[in-house]
Amino acid sequence: MRLWTCAVAALSFGCFFSIFDLVHAQEGTTTQISSSTSYSCDPAACQLTSNCLCASSSPPNGLDPKDTPQFVVVTFDDSIQETLYTAAQQMLNVINPNGCKARGTWYVSMQYTDFSLVQQWYAQGNEVADHTFSHVGAPSEQEISSAKSMLHEYGGVPLNKIQGFRAPFLNYTADTLKQLSKQQFSYDSSSSASSDNDNFWPYTLDHGMANDCWTGVCDANFKLPGFWEFPMYAVMNNASVPQLMDVYLSGTADDVTKWSLDTFERHYNGGRQPFGIYVHPTHLASYPGLPDPKPLLDSVVNLIKSISEKKDVWVVTNQQLLQWMKNPVKASQLANQPYMKCEQPVLPNEICNGLDDNHSGGVDESLLNNCNFGTSNFKTCFNCPNTAPSLSSPTPGSTMQNGTAGYRYTVPENCDTTWWDPIGNKCNCDTTATNCEYKNEALPTNKTTGSDGNGGSSDASSTLLPVSQLALLITLVALVTLY
Ligand SMILES: *[C@@H]1O[C@H](CO)[C@@H](O)[C@H](O)[C@H]1NC(C)=O
Ligand SMILES: *[C@@H]1O[C@H](CO)[C@@H](O)[C@H](O)[C@H]1NC(C)=O
Ligand SMILES: *[C@@H]1O[C@H](CO)[C@@H](O)[C@H](O)[C@H]1NC(C)=O
Ligand SMILES: *[C@@H]1O[C@H](CO)[C@@H](O)[C@H](O)[C@H]1NC(C)=O
Ligand SMILES: *[C@@H]1O[C@H](CO)[C@@H](O)[C@H](O)[C@H]1NC(C)=O
Ligand SMILES: [Zn+2]
Repeated sequence: MRLWTCAVAALSFGCFFSIFDLVHAQEGTTTQISSSTSYSCDPAACQLTSNCLCASSSPPNGLDPKDTPQFVVVTFDDSIQETLYTAAQQMLNVINPNGCKARGTWYVSMQYTDFSLVQQWYAQGNEVADHTFSHVGAPSEQEISSAKSMLHEYGGVPLNKIQGFRAPFLNYTADTLKQLSKQQFSYDSSSSASSDNDNFWPYTLDHGMANDCWTGVCDANFKLPGFWEFPMYAVMNNASVPQLMDVYLSGTADDVTKWSLDTFERHYNGGRQPFGIYVHPTHLASYPGLPDPKPLLDSVVNLIKSISEKKDVWVVTNQQLLQWMKNPVKASQLANQPYMKCEQPVLPNEICNGLDDNHSGGVDESLLNNCNFGTSNFKTCFNCPNTAPSLSSPTPGSTMQNGTAGYRYTVPENCDTTWWDPIGNKCNCDTTATNCEYKNEALPTNKTTGSDGNGGSSDASSTLLPVSQLALLITLVALVTLY
């Protein structure tokens, strides 16, 4: 822990050399610095049938990498606001091999978040995840639970669909993970995988942490059975220095694209570990008076487009990936898995569900409530609280009375957001309904399974760079300057 604090806080020469000492001390041991010295997990005893999976660079259940889908996760951090939302949607404007639109995960912090957009994001099949109430590192129990309550209360996301967490500044501890497991989250995605030695597929913490060990978390001696860790996969730049988040800020568009594609090819031609694109969309949205971010956004959009040209590439949420992890199938069988489908409700008129039900070109128009509290203003399909939400009181009561006109009813656990009418207090398709009408949103695509993909020519120059200790040393320094 002391090392982590030191490294992150200052990067002064003193800290620099204490990291160096650590590297030095490990020289000659069989384990690399990035991977754990204490992690041990027996795949024969830890099996998916009992919701256990050992950390490994190979696909689960012995799947041949050639038969394994190449998952790509695009994640967004911090508040959801109109301009950020628009940028995020442009990044996901690609189609998966089954014709369904790509999906992404948003780790949402509460300040400045427009909860009507949380609902829209979710209604389109994307994932809403927890990034704390106040955006603080080493978050308390309340920081985690308050954000979850607000995403449910004002964003209309069913509680059991909020399964993921990322720590602000990636500053998490063993206690954070314990707390998440206690609060019934399914996974954390705050750790980094920064070398070829710890590029693990997501795994359960039945035997503790196996990556990001330089933070000390691998030696913290805890076990969280059935709780998943989704490592964030770094991109190696041309000097073998890992870049984790907002890689587009760390070089020219051409350079970043090349590093990213090279790293992608290493995953694709290696163990098919998921590939990640982790952004703070605030860099990619226009603000008056700031430089036009369009070239940056274009470079990210083009990168995602060229990656997704390969026929076995699937751009998914972490929750979709989790479903696959729990029951891995070959790429050729993925199109028909229920969690990969894209169906939307067919409804006769607009209800406040985050979708454009009557195809008028607007979502929930004239149905949203505007909640104004000076600094925290947001729109929502649900009741405005009677006072600004706070850490200790994230969902204050409303002045509205149930049964009176205009009251909004919270989505119940047996109804999904897109079917729930919060004004009519009615589920248009619950578990007992027989007349749920869906529209399949899949589009025609040329990425049919079995044919050769048209893109992603394998780049012969993407040879594996040996990770020297110096590189690892720089790794530590580089990673801590990120979020
Ligand atoms: C992590 O967050 C806690 C609480 O905000 C803070 O005290 C600590 O200094 C942070 N550590 C790092 C390494 O940023
Ligand atoms: C990496 O690329 C940059 C920009 O193209 C170049 O200036 C630098 O010399 C390269 N470094 C290495 C180690 O190849
Ligand atoms: C769609 O619904 C909204 C909200 O009820 C309404 O204002 C609008 O006129 C409707 N548009 C069409 C084309 O039906
Ligand atoms: C409405 O409020 C009453 C009294 O507070 C409560 O008993 C009842 O369960 C509420 N109904 C709904 C649908 O929330
Ligand atoms: C599929 O391929 C055909 C012919 O190559 C092309 O005209 C069409 O635009 C492609 N469709 C899609 C959805 O990419
Ligand atoms: Zn953040």
